[in-house]
Amino acid sequence: MTFPKLKIGELVARVPIIQGGMGIGVSLSGLASAVANQGGIGVIATAGVGILGSDRSMSYIEASIGNLREEIRKAKKATSGILGVNIMVALTNFADMVETSISEGVDLIFSGAGLPLDLPKYLKDGVKTKLVPIISSAKAARIICKRWLSRYNRLPDAFVVEGPMAGGHLGFSTEQIDDPEYALKKIIPEVVVAVSAVEQEKGVKIPVIAAGGIYTGEDIYEFLNLGAAGVQMGTRFVVTHECDADIEFKKTYIRANQDDLVIIQSPVGLPGRAIKNDYISSIQQGLKKPFKCVYHCIKSCNCTDSPYCIALCLANAKEGKFKGGFAFAGKNAWRVDRILSVKELMESLEEEFNKVSDNWPSMRPMSNRELRNAALL
Ligand SMILES: Cc1cc2nc3c(=O)[nH]c(=O)nc-3n(C[C@H](O)[C@H](O)[C@H](O)COP(=O)(O)O)c2cc1C
Repeated sequence: MTFPKLKIGELVARVPIIQGGMGIGVSLSGLASAVANQGGIGVIATAGVGILGSDRSMSYIEASIGNLREEIRKAKKATSGILGVNIMVALTNFADMVETSISEGVDLIFSGAGLPLDLPKYLKDGVKTKLVPIISSAKAARIICKRWLSRYNRLPDAFVVEGPMAGGHLGFSTEQIDDPEYALKKIIPEVVVAVSAVEQEKGVKIPVIAAGGIYTGEDIYEFLNLGAAGVQMGTRFVVTHECDADIEFKKTYIRANQDDLVIIQSPVGLPGRAIKNDYISSIQQGLKKPFKCVYHCIKSCNCTDSPYCIALCLANAKEGKFKGGFAFAGKNAWRVDRILSVKELMESLEEEFNKVSDNWPSMRPMSNRELRNAALL
Protein backbone atom coordinates (compact mmCIF):
# COMPACT_ATOMS: atom_id res chain seq x y z
CA MET A 1 0.00 0.00 0.00
CA THR A 2 1.29 3.48 -0.79
CA PHE A 3 0.45 6.75 0.94
CA PRO A 4 -3.21 7.68 0.67
CA LYS A 5 -3.81 11.17 -0.74
CA LEU A 6 -4.78 14.03 1.54
CA LYS A 7 -7.84 15.93 0.28
CA ILE A 8 -8.79 19.30 1.70
CA GLY A 9 -11.71 20.62 -0.31
CA GLU A 10 -10.62 20.50 -3.95
CA LEU A 11 -6.92 20.46 -2.99
CA VAL A 12 -5.35 17.03 -3.33
CA ALA A 13 -1.87 16.36 -1.91
CA ARG A 14 -0.29 13.14 -3.24
CA VAL A 15 1.50 12.72 0.08
CA PRO A 16 -0.55 13.10 3.30
CA ILE A 17 2.15 15.19 4.99
CA ILE A 18 1.94 18.86 5.88
CA GLN A 19 5.17 20.57 6.84
CA GLY A 20 4.37 22.53 9.99
CA GLY A 21 4.89 26.29 9.84
CA MET A 22 8.03 27.15 11.84
CA GLY A 23 8.93 30.64 12.95
CA ILE A 24 11.00 32.63 13.17
CA GLY A 25 12.16 32.17 9.60
CA VAL A 26 12.73 28.41 9.93
CA SER A 27 10.10 27.60 7.29
CA LEU A 28 10.09 30.15 4.51
CA SER A 29 9.85 29.76 0.74
CA GLY A 30 12.86 27.38 0.50
CA LEU A 31 11.47 24.64 2.70
CA ALA A 32 7.81 25.17 1.81
CA SER A 33 8.40 24.92 -1.94
CA ALA A 34 10.64 21.84 -1.55
CA VAL A 35 7.91 20.04 0.41
CA ALA A 36 5.22 21.08 -2.09
CA ASN A 37 7.43 19.82 -4.94
CA GLN A 38 7.51 16.40 -3.30
CA GLY A 39 3.72 16.17 -3.15
CA GLY A 40 3.21 17.35 0.44
CA ILE A 41 1.88 20.68 1.65
CA GLY A 42 4.57 23.31 2.27
CA VAL A 43 3.96 26.03 4.85
CA ILE A 44 5.58 29.46 5.31
CA ALA A 45 5.61 30.72 8.91
CA THR A 46 4.57 34.34 9.37
CA ALA A 47 5.65 34.68 13.02
CA GLY A 48 8.38 37.31 13.18
CA VAL A 49 8.78 37.48 9.41
CA GLY A 50 9.22 41.26 9.77
CA ILE A 51 12.41 40.82 11.80
CA LEU A 52 14.14 39.00 8.95
CA GLY A 53 16.12 40.77 6.25
CA SER A 54 18.47 43.69 6.39
CA ASP A 55 16.23 46.64 5.46
CA ARG A 56 15.94 48.56 8.74
CA SER A 57 14.28 51.62 7.11
CA MET A 58 10.82 50.01 7.31
CA SER A 59 8.62 49.63 10.38
CA TYR A 60 8.05 46.11 11.72
CA ILE A 61 4.53 46.15 10.28
CA GLU A 62 5.65 47.21 6.78
CA ALA A 63 8.56 44.76 6.82
CA SER A 64 6.24 41.91 7.88
CA ILE A 65 3.87 42.52 4.98
CA GLY A 66 6.68 43.07 2.46
CA ASN A 67 8.70 40.03 3.55
CA LEU A 68 5.67 37.74 3.62
CA ARG A 69 4.60 38.85 0.15
CA GLU A 70 8.11 38.22 -1.14
CA GLU A 71 8.31 34.74 0.44
CA ILE A 72 4.94 33.69 -0.98
CA ARG A 73 5.94 34.92 -4.44
CA LYS A 74 9.32 33.13 -4.27
CA ALA A 75 7.65 29.89 -3.18
CA LYS A 76 5.07 30.10 -5.95
CA LYS A 77 7.83 30.56 -8.51
CA ALA A 78 9.63 27.49 -7.20
CA THR A 79 6.64 25.11 -7.15
CA SER A 80 3.24 24.46 -8.63
CA GLY A 81 2.42 22.32 -5.57
CA ILE A 82 0.23 23.19 -2.59
CA LEU A 83 1.34 26.07 -0.35
CA GLY A 84 0.04 27.38 2.92
CA VAL A 85 0.97 29.94 5.55
CA ASN A 86 0.95 29.61 9.33
CA ILE A 87 -0.47 32.61 11.19
CA MET A 88 -0.60 32.52 14.98
CA VAL A 89 -3.75 34.09 16.44
CA ALA A 90 -1.56 35.73 19.09
CA LEU A 91 0.32 37.86 16.53
CA THR A 92 -0.39 41.59 16.79
CA ASN A 93 -0.28 41.76 12.97
CA PHE A 94 -2.63 38.78 12.52
CA ALA A 95 -5.03 40.74 10.26
CA ASP A 96 -2.20 42.05 8.05
CA MET A 97 -0.73 38.57 7.67
CA VAL A 98 -4.12 37.04 6.79
CA GLU A 99 -4.99 39.77 4.30
CA THR A 100 -1.55 39.61 2.63
CA SER A 101 -1.75 35.80 2.35
CA ILE A 102 -5.21 35.89 0.83
CA SER A 103 -4.32 38.64 -1.63
CA GLU A 104 -1.24 36.61 -2.70
CA GLY A 105 -3.50 33.59 -3.32
CA VAL A 106 -2.11 31.03 -0.85
CA ASP A 107 -3.95 27.71 -0.88
CA LEU A 108 -4.38 27.40 2.89
CA ILE A 109 -4.07 29.34 6.13
CA PHE A 110 -3.14 27.35 9.26
CA SER A 111 -3.88 29.22 12.45
CA GLY A 112 -3.28 28.29 16.08
CA ALA A 113 -1.77 29.64 19.34
CA GLY A 114 -5.27 30.77 20.28
CA LEU A 115 -8.63 29.97 18.71
CA PRO A 116 -9.04 31.63 15.28
CA LEU A 117 -12.67 32.46 16.01
CA ASP A 118 -12.94 35.30 13.49
CA LEU A 119 -10.70 34.00 10.71
CA PRO A 120 -13.53 33.56 8.14
CA LYS A 121 -14.33 37.28 8.23
CA TYR A 122 -11.30 37.94 6.02
CA LEU A 123 -12.52 35.71 3.19
CA LYS A 124 -14.30 37.60 0.43
CA ASP A 125 -16.66 35.92 -2.07
CA GLY A 126 -14.86 33.78 -4.61
CA VAL A 127 -11.65 33.42 -2.53
CA LYS A 128 -10.62 29.77 -2.45
CA THR A 129 -8.06 29.93 0.39
CA LYS A 130 -8.77 27.09 2.82
CA LEU A 131 -8.93 27.80 6.56
CA VAL A 132 -7.39 25.26 8.92
CA PRO A 133 -7.41 25.92 12.68
CA ILE A 134 -4.69 24.30 14.79
CA ILE A 135 -6.18 22.98 18.01
CA SER A 136 -5.29 20.74 20.94
CA SER A 137 -8.69 19.36 22.01
CA ALA A 138 -12.10 18.17 20.82
CA LYS A 139 -13.62 21.00 22.84
CA ALA A 140 -11.76 23.57 20.72
CA ALA A 141 -13.02 21.87 17.53
CA ARG A 142 -16.62 22.11 18.77
CA ILE A 143 -16.26 25.77 19.80
CA ILE A 144 -14.78 26.78 16.43
CA CYS A 145 -17.40 24.87 14.39
CA LYS A 146 -20.23 26.40 16.41
CA ARG A 147 -18.89 29.94 16.17
CA TRP A 148 -18.03 29.78 12.45
CA LEU A 149 -21.45 28.32 11.62
CA SER A 150 -23.40 30.90 13.60
CA ARG A 151 -21.36 33.91 12.51
CA TYR A 152 -20.16 33.03 9.04
CA ASN A 153 -22.24 30.03 7.94
CA ARG A 154 -18.98 28.23 7.26
CA LEU A 155 -16.94 25.38 8.72
CA PRO A 156 -13.17 24.80 8.86
CA ASP A 157 -11.76 23.05 5.78
CA ALA A 158 -9.66 20.81 8.06
CA PHE A 159 -8.26 20.75 11.60
CA VAL A 160 -4.65 20.23 12.64
CA VAL A 161 -4.55 18.64 16.10
CA GLU A 162 -1.26 19.37 17.79
CA GLY A 163 -0.31 17.17 20.74
CA PRO A 164 2.17 17.81 23.58
CA MET A 165 5.22 16.29 21.84
CA ALA A 166 5.38 19.14 19.29
CA GLY A 167 8.08 21.79 19.12
CA GLY A 168 7.61 25.48 19.79
CA HIS A 169 4.76 26.93 21.84
CA LEU A 170 2.37 24.30 23.16
CA GLY A 171 -1.37 24.51 23.78
CA PHE A 172 -1.11 22.65 27.11
CA SER A 173 -0.25 23.52 30.69
CA THR A 174 3.11 22.27 31.97
CA GLU A 175 1.31 19.58 34.02
CA GLN A 176 -0.66 18.34 31.00
CA ILE A 177 2.40 17.87 28.78
CA ASP A 178 3.38 14.48 30.22
CA ASP A 179 -0.11 13.42 31.30
CA PRO A 180 -1.27 10.43 29.18
CA GLU A 181 -4.78 11.92 29.16
CA TYR A 182 -3.47 14.58 26.76
CA ALA A 183 -1.38 12.31 24.54
CA LEU A 184 -1.94 12.80 20.81
CA LYS A 185 -3.10 9.18 20.49
CA LYS A 186 -5.84 10.01 22.94
CA ILE A 187 -6.85 13.39 21.48
CA ILE A 188 -7.02 12.37 17.82
CA PRO A 189 -9.91 9.88 18.20
CA GLU A 190 -11.73 12.41 20.41
CA VAL A 191 -11.45 15.12 17.75
CA VAL A 192 -12.38 12.69 14.94
CA VAL A 193 -15.55 11.72 16.80
CA ALA A 194 -16.46 15.37 17.51
CA VAL A 195 -15.81 16.41 13.90
CA SER A 196 -17.61 13.44 12.36
CA ALA A 197 -20.79 14.50 14.19
CA VAL A 198 -20.56 17.88 12.39
CA GLU A 199 -19.66 16.21 9.08
CA GLN A 200 -22.73 13.98 9.26
CA GLU A 201 -25.05 16.82 10.21
CA LYS A 202 -23.79 19.20 7.51
CA GLY A 203 -22.83 16.69 4.80
CA VAL A 204 -19.23 17.96 4.51
CA LYS A 205 -15.76 16.48 4.93
CA ILE A 206 -13.42 18.03 7.51
CA PRO A 207 -10.13 16.12 7.53
CA VAL A 208 -8.34 15.86 10.87
CA ILE A 209 -4.54 16.08 10.75
CA ALA A 210 -2.30 14.78 13.54
CA ALA A 211 0.79 16.73 14.69
CA GLY A 212 3.43 16.54 17.39
CA GLY A 213 6.12 13.89 17.73
CA ILE A 214 5.38 12.12 14.45
CA TYR A 215 8.73 10.83 13.31
CA THR A 216 8.52 7.72 11.12
CA GLY A 217 6.35 6.20 8.40
CA GLU A 218 5.08 3.79 11.09
CA ASP A 219 3.91 6.77 13.14
CA ILE A 220 2.04 8.10 10.09
CA TYR A 221 0.39 4.70 9.62
CA GLU A 222 -0.63 4.63 13.28
CA PHE A 223 -2.31 8.05 13.16
CA LEU A 224 -4.10 7.34 9.88
CA ASN A 225 -5.44 4.20 11.57
CA LEU A 226 -6.75 6.35 14.41
CA GLY A 227 -8.87 8.33 11.95
CA ALA A 228 -6.48 11.13 10.89
CA ALA A 229 -6.45 11.98 7.18
CA GLY A 230 -2.84 13.17 7.28
CA VAL A 231 -0.05 14.34 9.54
CA GLN A 232 1.80 17.58 10.15
CA MET A 233 5.52 17.33 10.86
CA GLY A 234 7.95 20.04 11.93
CA THR A 235 11.09 18.65 13.55
CA ARG A 236 11.96 16.23 10.72
CA PHE A 237 11.82 19.04 8.18
CA VAL A 238 14.19 21.26 10.17
CA VAL A 239 17.03 18.88 9.48
CA THR A 240 16.81 19.04 5.71
CA HIS A 241 19.10 20.86 3.30
CA GLU A 242 16.19 22.98 2.14
CA CYS A 243 15.14 24.20 5.61
CA ASP A 244 15.59 27.99 5.71
CA ALA A 245 17.46 28.05 9.04
CA ASP A 246 21.26 28.32 9.32
CA ILE A 247 23.29 25.09 9.31
CA GLU A 248 24.18 25.70 13.00
CA PHE A 249 20.46 25.52 13.83
CA LYS A 250 20.25 22.10 12.15
CA LYS A 251 23.43 20.95 13.91
CA THR A 252 21.93 21.69 17.35
CA TYR A 253 19.26 19.12 16.51
CA ILE A 254 21.87 16.56 15.49
CA ARG A 255 23.93 17.18 18.65
CA ALA A 256 20.95 17.15 21.04
CA ASN A 257 20.51 14.35 23.55
CA GLN A 258 17.15 13.28 24.87
CA ASP A 259 17.75 15.23 28.11
CA ASP A 260 18.45 18.43 26.20
CA LEU A 261 14.81 18.76 25.13
CA VAL A 262 13.31 20.97 27.80
CA ILE A 263 10.14 22.89 28.51
CA ILE A 264 10.62 26.63 28.90
CA GLN A 265 8.09 29.20 30.11
CA SER A 266 7.81 31.60 27.20
CA PRO A 267 7.06 35.30 27.86
CA VAL A 268 4.00 34.90 25.62
CA GLY A 269 2.36 32.95 28.45
CA LEU A 270 2.64 29.43 27.02
CA PRO A 271 5.10 26.65 27.68
CA GLY A 272 7.40 25.87 24.77
CA ARG A 273 9.77 23.01 23.91
CA ALA A 274 13.35 23.94 23.09
CA ILE A 275 16.89 22.56 23.05
CA LYS A 276 18.72 23.43 26.26
CA ASN A 277 21.80 25.63 25.90
CA ASP A 278 23.77 28.27 27.84
CA TYR A 279 21.26 30.97 26.96
CA ILE A 280 18.40 28.98 28.55
CA SER A 281 20.57 28.20 31.59
CA SER A 282 21.36 31.90 32.09
CA ILE A 283 17.63 32.76 31.99
CA GLN A 284 16.94 30.01 34.53
CA GLN A 285 19.72 31.31 36.79
CA GLY A 286 18.22 34.80 36.64
CA LEU A 287 21.20 36.28 34.79
CA LYS A 288 19.12 38.04 32.11
CA LYS A 289 17.43 41.41 32.70
CA PRO A 290 14.15 42.86 31.36
CA PHE A 291 14.63 44.69 28.04
CA LYS A 292 12.86 47.34 25.97
CA CYS A 293 10.43 45.76 23.51
CA VAL A 294 11.00 46.81 19.90
CA TYR A 295 8.54 44.75 17.88
CA HIS A 296 5.36 44.33 19.99
CA CYS A 297 4.80 41.20 17.93
CA ILE A 298 2.73 39.00 20.27
CA LYS A 299 -0.48 40.23 21.91
CA SER A 300 -0.02 38.23 25.13
CA CYS A 301 3.73 38.88 25.57
CA ASN A 302 4.72 40.04 29.02
CA CYS A 303 7.60 42.08 27.66
CA THR A 304 7.92 44.52 30.57
CA ASP A 305 8.87 41.83 33.10
CA SER A 306 10.36 39.21 30.82
CA PRO A 307 14.14 38.73 31.04
CA TYR A 308 14.38 38.15 27.30
CA CYS A 309 12.63 38.83 23.97
CA ILE A 310 11.39 35.54 22.55
CA ALA A 311 11.24 36.97 19.01
CA LEU A 312 14.85 38.14 19.08
CA CYS A 313 15.98 34.85 20.65
CA LEU A 314 14.36 32.76 17.96
CA ALA A 315 15.53 35.06 15.16
CA ASN A 316 19.13 34.84 16.47
CA ALA A 317 18.89 31.05 16.66
CA LYS A 318 17.56 30.84 13.11
CA GLU A 319 20.72 32.65 12.03
CA GLY A 320 22.88 30.27 14.06
CA LYS A 321 23.69 32.90 16.74
CA PHE A 322 23.16 30.79 19.82
CA LYS A 323 24.86 33.24 22.20
CA GLY A 324 21.69 35.27 21.80
CA GLY A 325 19.00 32.62 21.65
CA PHE A 326 17.83 29.02 21.53
CA ALA A 327 16.13 26.64 19.11
CA PHE A 328 12.59 25.41 19.45
CA ALA A 329 12.32 21.67 18.68
CA GLY A 330 9.92 18.75 18.99
CA LYS A 331 10.35 16.07 21.65
CA ASN A 332 11.84 13.65 19.12
CA ALA A 333 14.54 16.04 17.87
CA TRP A 334 17.27 14.00 19.64
CA ARG A 335 16.58 11.12 17.23
CA VAL A 336 17.84 13.10 14.23
CA ASP A 337 21.33 12.07 13.17
CA ARG A 338 21.93 13.63 9.76
CA ILE A 339 20.74 16.21 7.30
CA LEU A 340 18.69 14.84 4.41
CA SER A 341 17.07 16.40 1.38
CA VAL A 342 13.30 16.80 1.56
CA LYS A 343 13.05 14.22 -1.24
CA GLU A 344 15.11 11.66 0.73
CA LEU A 345 13.04 12.30 3.86
CA MET A 346 9.73 11.89 2.02
CA GLU A 347 10.94 8.71 0.30
CA SER A 348 12.13 7.16 3.56
CA LEU A 349 8.82 7.98 5.26
CA GLU A 350 6.88 6.42 2.39
CA GLU A 351 9.09 3.32 2.44
CA GLU A 352 8.53 2.88 6.20
CA PHE A 353 4.82 3.43 5.75
CA ASN A 354 4.64 0.86 2.94
CA LYS A 355 6.51 -1.73 4.96
CA VAL A 356 4.23 -1.48 7.94
CA SER A 357 1.04 -1.27 5.89
CA ASP A 358 2.09 -4.36 3.89
CA ASN A 359 2.41 -6.24 7.16
CA TRP A 360 -1.02 -5.07 8.28
CA PRO A 361 -2.79 -4.64 4.96
CA SER A 362 -6.25 -4.28 6.49
CA MET A 363 -5.98 -0.54 7.18
CA ARG A 364 -9.42 0.98 7.05
CA PRO A 365 -10.85 3.98 8.82
CA MET A 366 -12.07 3.07 12.31
CA SER A 367 -15.81 3.12 12.87
CA ASN A 368 -17.20 5.78 15.19
CA ARG A 369 -17.68 3.13 17.85
CA GLU A 370 -14.03 2.02 17.56
CA LEU A 371 -12.90 5.64 17.70
CA ARG A 372 -14.97 6.29 20.80
CA ASN A 373 -13.43 3.22 22.42
CA ALA A 374 -9.93 4.42 21.44
CA ALA A 375 -10.71 7.81 22.96
CA LEU A 376 -11.81 6.13 26.18
CA LEU A 377 -8.69 3.96 26.52
C1 LIG B 1 11.49 25.46 15.26
C2 LIG B 1 10.00 25.38 15.37
C3 LIG B 1 9.23 26.52 15.19
C4 LIG B 1 7.83 26.44 15.23
N1 LIG B 1 7.09 27.56 14.98
C5 LIG B 1 5.74 27.48 14.90
C6 LIG B 1 4.97 28.63 14.51
O1 LIG B 1 5.50 29.69 14.20
N2 LIG B 1 3.61 28.48 14.48
C7 LIG B 1 2.99 27.29 14.79
O2 LIG B 1 1.75 27.21 14.74
N3 LIG B 1 3.70 26.19 15.14
C8 LIG B 1 5.06 26.27 15.18
N4 LIG B 1 5.79 25.13 15.45
C9 LIG B 1 5.09 23.82 15.55
C10 LIG B 1 5.18 23.06 14.19
O3 LIG B 1 4.49 23.75 13.19
C11 LIG B 1 4.64 21.62 14.23
O4 LIG B 1 3.24 21.56 14.32
C12 LIG B 1 5.17 20.80 15.35
O5 LIG B 1 6.52 21.07 15.57
C13 LIG B 1 4.95 19.32 15.01
O6 LIG B 1 5.64 18.49 15.88
P1 LIG B 1 7.05 17.83 15.48
O7 LIG B 1 8.00 18.95 15.43
O8 LIG B 1 7.29 16.88 16.58
O9 LIG B 1 6.87 17.18 14.13
C14 LIG B 1 7.19 25.19 15.48
C15 LIG B 1 7.98 24.06 15.69
C16 LIG B 1 9.36 24.13 15.63
C17 LIG B 1 10.15 22.88 15.83
